Amino acid sequence: MTTFYTQNTLKNYVQTEKSAGKTIGFVPTMGALHKGHLSLVRNAMTDNDIVCVSVFVNPTQFDNATDLEKYPRTLEADVELLKTLGKNIFIYAPSIKDIYETDVEAEKFSFDGLEFEMEGKFRTGHFDGVGTIVKRLLEIVTPHKAYFGEKDFQQLMIIKKLVSKYKIPVEIIGCSIFREASGLAMSSRNERLSDEARKESAFIYKTLLEAQKKFGTKSAMKVKEWVQKQFNKHPLLTLEYVEIANIKNLKTVKRKSKNETYRIFIAAFIEDIRLIDNVALN
Ligand code: PAF
Repeated sequence: MTTFYTQNTLKNYVQTEKSAGKTIGFVPTMGALHKGHLSLVRNAMTDNDIVCVSVFVNPTQFDNATDLEKYPRTLEADVELLKTLGKNIFIYAPSIKDIYETDVEAEKFSFDGLEFEMEGKFRTGHFDGVGTIVKRLLEIVTPHKAYFGEKDFQQLMIIKKLVSKYKIPVEIIGCSIFREASGLAMSSRNERLSDEARKESAFIYKTLLEAQKKFGTKSAMKVKEWVQKQFNKHPLLTLEYVEIANIKNLKTVKRKSKNETYRIFIAAFIEDIRLIDNVALN
């Protein structure tokens, strides 16, 4: 399995493979790969001849210096994991300089308001950082299809918007959330949880499923109040937000309509670690 550390060597390889008629799938990651990432890579392997996995902890999407510093960096283990999946995978693990040269700054984007909802309210500049890195990676790797998990549903919608606004010739594929046996959504951050916190964090998904049932008969406001109450009673988890949003524009649902599709979103802290999750409501 080849690991490319510079965009020039990667671009040469991609060019050769494309000239030979190969299709390229792309899974961008920040490393610390888990089963959720592997399921994205498997999807990419099914749809494409070869698959590029990028491993890059992108500094411009972190609004919290400690979070960036503590983000796990495990390239060797990531390579070993990817080797278990098959031969048609190559890795792009660039340095900060290879991506940003000397200017480690996010570009400014407008995603037609998607960026101001939920995560955008709590993580200043986060989606400018995500937009910057995903645009650059797509321009370097030039894949036919790129795969993103629905755990970061808002990010997925924003990347679809980015690709359509900048007319980037790639198909963006959203993939279902991969969960631990307890229901906890897979995340690189789960590795930082103590055993107790990991067990207790399953409460997030359990509450989302209960909320999904209640949404059949109750208003969005009532369901959100109910979720807030459940978290108020929980000894370890602190709710940052619960939101029920229309998936078209991610705006808060005021009044339900049968013709619209909604999801419920949660961000919560446990042991100072921030976890997010969401489920479809209808
Ligand atoms: O979802 C992630 O892991 C990151 O936001 C991404 C898409 C790899 C960009 O750094």
